[in-house]
Amino acid sequence: MAAPLWFPFPLLAIVLAAAVSGSAPPAAALVFPKEALPTKSGYLPIPSPNASLYFAFYEATHPVTPPASTPLLVWLDGGPGYSSFLGNFFQIGPYLLSSNTTTSPSTVPLSPNPFAWNRRFGLLFLDSPLGTGYSAAPSVSAIPTNQSTVAEHILAALQSFLAAEPPELRARPLFLTGESYGGKSIPTAGALILAANPRLPVGRRINLRGVAIGDGLVHPVAQVATHAEVAYGMGLIGGAQRREAEAMQREAVALTRAARWREASDARAGILAWLQSATGLPSLYDAEGAAASAFFFFNFIQLFNNIIKKPAQTNIGTR
Ligand SMILES: *[C@@H]1O[C@H](CO)[C@@H](O)[C@H](O)[C@H]1NC(C)=O
Ligand SMILES: *[C@@H]1O[C@H](CO)[C@@H](O)[C@H](O)[C@H]1NC(C)=O
Ligand SMILES: *[C@@H]1O[C@H](CO)[C@@H](O)[C@H](O)[C@H]1NC(C)=O
Repeated sequence: MAAPLWFPFPLLAIVLAAAVSGSAPPAAALVFPKEALPTKSGYLPIPSPNASLYFAFYEATHPVTPPASTPLLVWLDGGPGYSSFLGNFFQIGPYLLSSNTTTSPSTVPLSPNPFAWNRRFGLLFLDSPLGTGYSAAPSVSAIPTNQSTVAEHILAALQSFLAAEPPELRARPLFLTGESYGGKSIPTAGALILAANPRLPVGRRINLRGVAIGDGLVHPVAQVATHAEVAYGMGLIGGAQRREAEAMQREAVALTRAARWREASDARAGILAWLQSATGLPSLYDAEGAAASAFFFFNFIQLFNNIIKKPAQTNIGTR
């Protein structure tokens, strides 16, 4: 196994800082605080020629388990095509980008995250699928077009990561975690790891113990068909609105069953936009209406997409 190539992490800081300020200040002036740096970061080779997945690993800072049994969490963001660094810098990483525009323009606006997952666990962010975030694809044709390939790349990247570490790290319990479209890549990668393990020598097995998926898109037909019922059950819409939404849902489900993916995706987005308008909620991510942080998050996602999101042409079908 070729040794992973280590790349300097400040590259990310420069891009993120440019994204936040809306213009690119002189790179040399930007400071990424030392305490916010990952334990390790770089590129993990995968079988596709000249291809590798970008990662950042943060070791547990305040574990409540002995080092040998402190879990390792792998974080996979959704999209498909969202960098896992969205999860890192907006949700679960040790330092979060803040909207505080009064901080000095020469520092990246980061603040410590009291809920960082790497307080208790080792935390590995992977930019997947190939073509996402810093996992630049060597060519458009190298970008995966199905979940099987995405899963093979995740497994290969994990093997590259673990092969470069002492065996104690491989022995720790590992969990695949993530959100949204990770609802497809996480079960697929988990199933592949379970199928691959018995064929591997003991020292090359991956100690997968579980998966955790937040707001996962696992099954578009089942999920799209229940939005209206959920909103009605929560008292967010009335009976007439429910019937209107259900008609839209039937249309989206029919498009999905017909494998008209782009139209199905647009139809689903249309239902969510309609529901947001009908419920009056500032964000469907918070039914209690506390939307300030959600607003900032989604505005930032749009900005972020413009800068580093790559078109990962993964199917959004039911497979
Ligand atoms: C991989 O990189 C080498 C060296 O740059 C190049 O010669 C080769 O054509 C590349 N292969 C692919 C499949 O991109
Ligand atoms: C924003 O940053 C400045 C400078 O570090 C600090 O004085 C101020 O308290 C911060 N404001 C908020 C709302 O965090
Ligand atoms: C996934 O894509 C790869 C590469 O294009 C292809 O070789 C493979 O047959 C595909 N697998 C499925 C299940 O469609």
